[in-house]
Amino acid sequence: MISQSLRDARRFEEEMEPKIADAPRPAFHLSARMGWMNDPNGFSYYNGEYHLFYQYYPFHTEWGPMHWAHAVSKDLLHWRHLPAALAPDMDYDRDGCFSGSAVTLPDGRQLLMYTGVDRQTLPDGSAQDIQTQCIALSGCVPQPEMPACVPQSGGAGVTDYEKYAENPVLDQNDLPPGANKNDFRDPKLWQAEDGTYYCVAGNRTEDRDGQVLLFQSPDAFHWEFVTVLAKNNGRFGRMWECPDFFPLDGKHVLLISPQDMLPKDFEYHNGNGTVCIIGSYDEQTHTFTEEANQAIDYGIDFYATQTLLTPDGRRILIAWMQNWDTCNFRSIDWPWFGQMCLPRELSVRDGRLIQQPLRELLALRKDEVRYENVTFTDLLRLDGIEGRRVDLTLSLKPKDGEELYRKFALRFAQDDTYQTSVSFRPYESVVKIDRKFSGSRRAIIHQRRCKVRNREGRLDLRIILDHFSVEIFVNDGEHVLTATLYTDLSAKGISFFADGKVTMDVVKYELRAE
Ligand code: FRU
Repeated sequence: MISQSLRDARRFEEEMEPKIADAPRPAFHLSARMGWMNDPNGFSYYNGEYHLFYQYYPFHTEWGPMHWAHAVSKDLLHWRHLPAALAPDMDYDRDGCFSGSAVTLPDGRQLLMYTGVDRQTLPDGSAQDIQTQCIALSGCVPQPEMPACVPQSGGAGVTDYEKYAENPVLDQNDLPPGANKNDFRDPKLWQAEDGTYYCVAGNRTEDRDGQVLLFQSPDAFHWEFVTVLAKNNGRFGRMWECPDFFPLDGKHVLLISPQDMLPKDFEYHNGNGTVCIIGSYDEQTHTFTEEANQAIDYGIDFYATQTLLTPDGRRILIAWMQNWDTCNFRSIDWPWFGQMCLPRELSVRDGRLIQQPLRELLALRKDEVRYENVTFTDLLRLDGIEGRRVDLTLSLKPKDGEELYRKFALRFAQDDTYQTSVSFRPYESVVKIDRKFSGSRRAIIHQRRCKVRNREGRLDLRIILDHFSVEIFVNDGEHVLTATLYTDLSAKGISFFADGKVTMDVVKYELRAE
């Protein structure tokens, strides 16, 4: 049975879709079908296709009572929207179906676990959330004792998710002492080799310090608390949102999105940030021992990561290519707000998280333009190097026998009025993104910097432009800087600048998704 709220959302989608068909959009990044998008949810491979759900408010381009949108893809680049999957339509989730994840059950159904939000008004008139973890299932309605149940249909045919009769499956009674019940959300599920299901959820202590809670279940329906997997101890912001936890290259990786961060050197910036903690995990005692931490992305618009494992064994990350602190930077005329970053392939190398653009992107490359050993000082333009859907690889070094150059800059989305740039100062080993002149009329953050490995003036950049975003992969994925830009698409110039003598190799492709 589909609730009236979900029916309303789906009818609205059908009515709006043809009316907004010509809206400007990215070509291969998933953008909100309509209205508002935030976190990726339920990122999974199910019945031969990738599924991506997301935090969604179809009726307005501002955040509202959260629904789950639903899209499917064969290659994580070409997406097709299915009808909205979840609406806030039960007592326990009437104020929102917040973030969560997906697993496939042994009987073939897809199980979604999400945070139900019930906002209660206190005697003093203030509001407080009760956040609990809830389940929805593709196929048929399961009963608490979970009788065998045949999915309605397979693959992309699965569009309806029924909320579990015994929801919520985790509530405040399942929390350890000292855990706050108002901030308890974003369950990320997985199944271990012995068949046990696990889930990590974001939480904070009563004194506002973030932590990740680990729960386990024999069947993905009946859950119990295991341990506090990681604690902030005052280091990374306050509440920790959107945790993810997985093995990678002999290590275990914990990803979190902390709120209210303080800056630290070039590593962490103020506000909502992303943190990767690399360590080792004892699966018997459920002890995670931290070894290193780093920001996941050093740009401006990036938050709420979630990963999946592909059938060929790759750990792929996706994230909301926005940030709560910069949501005012947008085009007010568009019927959609919010896009996902390009999916990234993860690995761990020398104790660092390495991120590379999804290899499926290579299939979109068209019209190669290549220059080798171009030495320049000052301004440079190169024939054939322009565009707003571009895959651009640059290899820089100081000109042989010359002293180190002082600065390199790449300017793009450029015309006589506008430009966005990425620059590099080798003496400081600092890479900076700057979208101040991209057309923004908002007094918000437009620049960010990160410190990269000192390679004596050598620098490798892979830059992906997709109409309204830029993702800069530095030194083979050691750092990534991501930002949105809403510059008119007619500004498609690309130029280079050097203060000193730079020698550069350039390979450029047009990216075509059609
Ligand atoms: C992160 C977040 C989550 C929450 C969702 C609500 O961006 O705040 O913690 O589940 O967004 O939309």
